[in-house]
Amino acid sequence: MRKKAKQVSAQSARGAGDGAERRSYARDGVGSVQGSIHSASSKARRRSSPEQEGKREARRGHFITLEGAEGVGKSTNLALVVEWLEARGLEVVQTREPGGTPRAEAIRQLLLDPAEGEPLDDDAELLLVFAARAQHLARVIRPALARGAWVVCDRFTDATFAYQGGGRGIPAPRIAELETFVQRGLEPDLTLLLDMPIREAQRRLAGRGGERDRFERERADFFEAVRAAYLDRAQASPQRFAVIDATRPLAEVGEEIRGVLEERVSAWQ
Ligand code: TMP
Repeated sequence: MRKKAKQVSAQSARGAGDGAERRSYARDGVGSVQGSIHSASSKARRRSSPEQEGKREARRGHFITLEGAEGVGKSTNLALVVEWLEARGLEVVQTREPGGTPRAEAIRQLLLDPAEGEPLDDDAELLLVFAARAQHLARVIRPALARGAWVVCDRFTDATFAYQGGGRGIPAPRIAELETFVQRGLEPDLTLLLDMPIREAQRRLAGRGGERDRFERERADFFEAVRAAYLDRAQASPQRFAVIDATRPLAEVGEEIRGVLEERVSAWQ
């Protein structure tokens, strides 16, 4: 039985900080992929076996994602990952989901806006997440990987299994169907899951102040379900995931992330 989404109300999505971030993600996304638009769309037209195509396509780059519930310190640690890779002379494309291109960022606004008066249907939410992802993959992620860049993405499809699956109660097989359709076998090489008890994450979030978006307004049991779904995914794919205990001091968390990068990245080169 699907859990009903808590319906929330308020005027705007987020503070000014988010707008600034949005512009920079959108501009970087488009600027870096102009030359690849044609090849990405012509490839889509002749695809024959969606499950196989993502595995077959030329992929010289690597794909790293950061995941975790709100308040776990993703932004700080994302910057650390980018810095670590750039210090090794690698081309890094830093991006985020939902978002990463102007159109996908517009979908992000729809998803985060508490929008008084019209609650967002759970299925519509799921489809919007994947619509944004399809655009992001076509315009930013696939072209970057094809030219050998390292894509570092703040959230990806594990977030869909956690939020729309765990949080909203949408069955995982339905999400997996969309994953196959949109990603055609493409998945991250490494996922850093920042984990901490929800009470602690919410305490940190409360300390930040500012207006809360549509997800941040959810109750603690929603986030407990999100956390449990993330941990289940990590347990099911231990080769891809590294679960980081984010309750520790930032320096220790950073140290562990650097250790994971040393180990995984050197194995790929
Ligand atoms: P952020 O604020 O961490 O950037 O993420 C925006 C929100 O979007 C966050 O609350 C989680 C949510 N989200 C989903 O519900 N499903 C998804 O697939 C993704 C990528 C994010």
